[in-house]
Amino acid sequence: MFDTYKKIFDNRAESYHKAMRDFPLARKEEFEWALHYLAINPGDNVCDVPSGGGYLKDFALDEDCFFNFLETSESFASYNVDCPNSKTQVCEFEDLPLANQSVDSLICLAALHHVDNREKVFQEFRRVVKSQGKILIVDVEEGSNTAGFLNVFVNEYNSMGHNGSFINGQVVNSLEKNEITVVSYNSHTFQWTFDNEHCMVTFCRGLFGLDKATDEDIIHGIKIYLNPHYQQNQVSLDWDLVYIVCN
Ligand SMILES: C[S@@+](CC[C@H](N)C(=O)[O-])C[C@H]1O[C@@H](n2cnc3c(N)ncnc32)[C@H](O)[C@@H]1O
Repeated sequence: MFDTYKKIFDNRAESYHKAMRDFPLARKEEFEWALHYLAINPGDNVCDVPSGGGYLKDFALDEDCFFNFLETSESFASYNVDCPNSKTQVCEFEDLPLANQSVDSLICLAALHHVDNREKVFQEFRRVVKSQGKILIVDVEEGSNTAGFLNVFVNEYNSMGHNGSFINGQVVNSLEKNEITVVSYNSHTFQWTFDNEHCMVTFCRGLFGLDKATDEDIIHGIKIYLNPHYQQNQVSLDWDLVYIVCN
């Protein structure tokens, strides 16, 4: 139905953003790990690409920095409300609207697995980040439970499908080939948390666009791939990502 992930995300942005807004703390740990690795300094110029609706800012309220939110999907970018310390721009991944060596740190969260032309994207990251700056890539690792959830379960129950090319050794080689040095590579399993099972199902339906799934299908998929934990006042699932710090 849609030939590129850019078009798919234009179409998916509304339900993705609604899920993020209705359950703003669900991915808290994921963003906290990102901020841990970014280690923003006062006055830093930070680039978040692609930023979705600018969710990073909600977890970085105490940071004294400037956010360049770059998004490839106009629908996603339209949800991002700028404030004095942020600016949102729509652009191509391979053509960022930033000057050479203008950014102290750049984060690319949950997007690279949708991108074919990674060499060009890495060259662009290298161009805009200062020589002493940092690049943080956060994504799904090949062979992880999260990868199975996305490419098998989401692929079956999202009518636009899901076919991610996940992180493997080739990505590290490709970074190094583009003179980006990998300084750490850490896989983390953390939790996405919800008040109850209904909230977890509603969040997953919206975030992943599971238009073909019943609630029971979604619970079944989470049980197969994401090891849900049921506690008295909270339900959570395991989410695996790799955090790659480069300079
Ligand atoms: C899963 S969302 C992640 C958004 C945000 N970083 C977050 O963590 O919530 C994937 C993002 O990648 C962008 N994207 C996906 N495929 C793309 C492609 N092939 N080229 C450019 N951007 C793409 C989408 O617009 C979307 O913002």
